[in-house]
Amino acid sequence: MTSLDQCSPWTAPHVDHELPGPRSAEFLALQQRHESNARTYPRRLPIAIEEASGSFVRDVDGNVFIDFLAGAGVLSLGHNHPDLVAAMTAQLGRLTHGLDFPTPAKEEFIEAQLSMLAPGLRDRMKFHFCGPTGANAVDAALKLCKTATGRGDVISFQGGFHGSSHAAMAITGLVSQKQPVPNGVPGIHFFPYSYCARCPLDLTPDTCTTNCAGYLERSLRDGNGGVPLPAAVILEMVQGEGGIIPARADFVRRVRELTLELGIPLVVDEVQSGCGRTGTWFAFEQYGIEPDVIVASKALSGIGTPVAVILYDRRLDVWAPGAHTGTFRGNQLAFAAGAEAVRVFRRDDVLGNVRQRGEQITRALAGLHADPWVSEVRGRGLMWGIEFADPTDGGPAGELATEVQARALRRGLIVEVGGRADCVVRLMPPLNVTAEVVDTACAILVGAIAEATRDKARQEA
Ligand SMILES: Cc1ncc(COP(=O)(O)O)c(C=O)c1O
Repeated sequence: MTSLDQCSPWTAPHVDHELPGPRSAEFLALQQRHESNARTYPRRLPIAIEEASGSFVRDVDGNVFIDFLAGAGVLSLGHNHPDLVAAMTAQLGRLTHGLDFPTPAKEEFIEAQLSMLAPGLRDRMKFHFCGPTGANAVDAALKLCKTATGRGDVISFQGGFHGSSHAAMAITGLVSQKQPVPNGVPGIHFFPYSYCARCPLDLTPDTCTTNCAGYLERSLRDGNGGVPLPAAVILEMVQGEGGIIPARADFVRRVRELTLELGIPLVVDEVQSGCGRTGTWFAFEQYGIEPDVIVASKALSGIGTPVAVILYDRRLDVWAPGAHTGTFRGNQLAFAAGAEAVRVFRRDDVLGNVRQRGEQITRALAGLHADPWVSEVRGRGLMWGIEFADPTDGGPAGELATEVQARALRRGLIVEVGGRADCVVRLMPPLNVTAEVVDTACAILVGAIAEATRDKARQEA
């Protein structure tokens, strides 16, 4: 897999300073003065970034970290992949912004994306280019389905995350984001997701027959169920921000069967799980279903230049010209990089690497099951979560996960947290990460967890 290596100047992390280092501290202070109180990542990852390459970032103090956050899953081929940089550089002098005019770069991007779909799906899908965020594409998907069905309600799932715009936030589970913003989008109904580690119906695996799907079925079929036939059901195959929770296969299949039977468009939000993250181009492929609408964004360009699309069944294409506009729908640099990214995926068998590195992570983290504070280690491909729970009452141990994140950072590994009360440490490395980097990162993580849980046990004693 040496072709995956991208001549990064770094092969190992090193942290030579207390964090934040002195220059990072200056930048963080400036940020606090100039930027919004709503800023997030640097609060728990207190560094200012100078440069990056492949799976590594270097902060302004010279500390080098392995980056298993990868721009929140955006940098599927790592930082500054040379082939993507070359494709963008070539495009830069030609055309950078094209509104929604057809352009050669856009057409190449579309063809590349279509080539990653199964033939049947490829033939029935149309693209809409949205404003360049996942949330904007989620909004577009809801508008499309409402327009096509003439219905106003939407079904979403507990624990899901779909973005921070008004509508995307409304279908997101995270109550703390919604509470301070009254009068959200109406007509949203939340149903339980197949989160078996914390079953929303309080069932144990031996008594479960995927009752979460059954509950949805019964509610929609019950004339007294209180939920009108919705415009859409929106679903993540793997809840990402919700704590890396892969949906159960029978749950997804039953939701698909039900939505087909009742004529409800099924929207799969693949903003985080898409573009190879789980080992197939889209995660829904692993569930043997085909959705009506696919939402994709984050890793479409592979290098962080923003782009967001919905792909949808052409029978839904009844919305009017201008139904979902946006100035920034024509980022030619993102299109050039995205088309090149697909070529690199094929050339370097990046999906194969995702599967192999995923198996490597399974093996490397297997010992964590013995830790009483680790309630579950789960994932698909290169999307992994380690959930921490209090062994006495099973409650989410968010503080411990945050402590692990801080200790991992001090040892040279950037990871994110998520899930209920942030009790899940999440791993989202670049998809072309090498075996050596995965080995180093897992060793750091296992060490950080051992240290944090040992100290926790001491405190409790
Ligand atoms: C599944 C999912 N949908 C939508 C979004 C929103 O994307 P953006 O932050 O680009 O608006 C995210 C972001 O993390 C996501 O994970």
